[in-house]
Amino acid sequence: MSLIERDKKVIWHPYTQMKDAQNPIPIVRGEGVYLYDENGNKYIDAVSSWWVTIHGHAHPYIAEKVSAQLKELEHVIFAGFTHEPAVKLAERLLPLLPGKQDKIFYSDNGSTAVEVALKMCLQYWNNKGNTQKKKVLAFKDAYHGDTFGAMSVSGRSIFTNPFNDLLFDVEFIDLPNADNILELQTKISQLQTEICCFIFEPLILGAGGMLMYEAKYLDELLKSCKENDVLTIADEVMTGFGRTGTYFACEQLIHHPNIFCLSKGLTGGTMPMGVTSCNEKIFEAFLSDDKLKTLYHGHSFTANPVACAASLASLYLSGLRDRLYNYFLSKGIILRPLGNIIYILPPYVISNDDLAYIYNSILQALDEI
Ligand SMILES: Cc1ncc(COP(=O)(O)O)c(C=O)c1O
Repeated sequence: MSLIERDKKVIWHPYTQMKDAQNPIPIVRGEGVYLYDENGNKYIDAVSSWWVTIHGHAHPYIAEKVSAQLKELEHVIFAGFTHEPAVKLAERLLPLLPGKQDKIFYSDNGSTAVEVALKMCLQYWNNKGNTQKKKVLAFKDAYHGDTFGAMSVSGRSIFTNPFNDLLFDVEFIDLPNADNILELQTKISQLQTEICCFIFEPLILGAGGMLMYEAKYLDELLKSCKENDVLTIADEVMTGFGRTGTYFACEQLIHHPNIFCLSKGLTGGTMPMGVTSCNEKIFEAFLSDDKLKTLYHGHSFTANPVACAASLASLYLSGLRDRLYNYFLSKGIILRPLGNIIYILPPYVISNDDLAYIYNSILQALDEI
């Protein structure tokens, strides 16, 4: 029996009407941007396999680190126990996040990172004794995941239709622009007694249709939230790790959120993992002698050491920029890589010989670094 026939007998694929679905393509191997099927056909993975694979498929360095971690410690319960990869990853991630983030809470994927963020905000007000602030503010076309909390704060669509009655109440707003920003800011101040938090995908709404909006208007919204005691959650599940030109989209803002949600590119796309980071203000609201103020949330695979090792390896790779910069400088060439992107923009008077020298040096860098 072929793999497709075996698949059809036992598998239910995501987002797929199984009655008339096209046959799935059996993939046997991945390398760089390419995926290969069982007949040797090669495909360019132009969507990074659901936006996760940031350094390419089967990256040897990540594979090596994951394999070493598997042989050392594959998993350990994370309540009452800790381990080096989880602590080291938190130590490395926190300073990279825009603004000041203080704590990392691990989970399994983008949706769970969002669930944790929402629970942190809802319970924050509960712990503070405020039972009025229960409503979430979100964008009409947002997509934050498929679990119930994440679905609730996502735009209503064919994906949510069968569940709409069960989703919690959310105040949906349009994307901000020059024409509506004042109206949106007024809304935030009018509803401030009810709104606990504002969740947003910074700069671009992904699954909602790749809708882009300007940083300066998001900044205005964040400013209003701060002034009106509305907590803010940046869902950087898609935008994180370089997708908008900066390492995190929120680096393009002046005002920074209380909470970040990360996943997808976090492990270089190799292992499932979610991160919810928060600042001290949020964390402190959960410190109490009253056990009821604890954040009672966790997953079996919280802070899985192998996923942490993959993330550490991926972060290392993302830090190539400085090494590339110094490498070219040592060859007498000034190049300023944008992250890991090497570009050349020389004066038009450059000679062919000098250009050839630059091209050769880039090839050498790719071999050597
Ligand atoms: C912005 C954003 N948030 C959350 C999610 C949910 O992530 P996951 O599919 O890992 O649950 C996605 C997935 O596409 C996303 O784009």
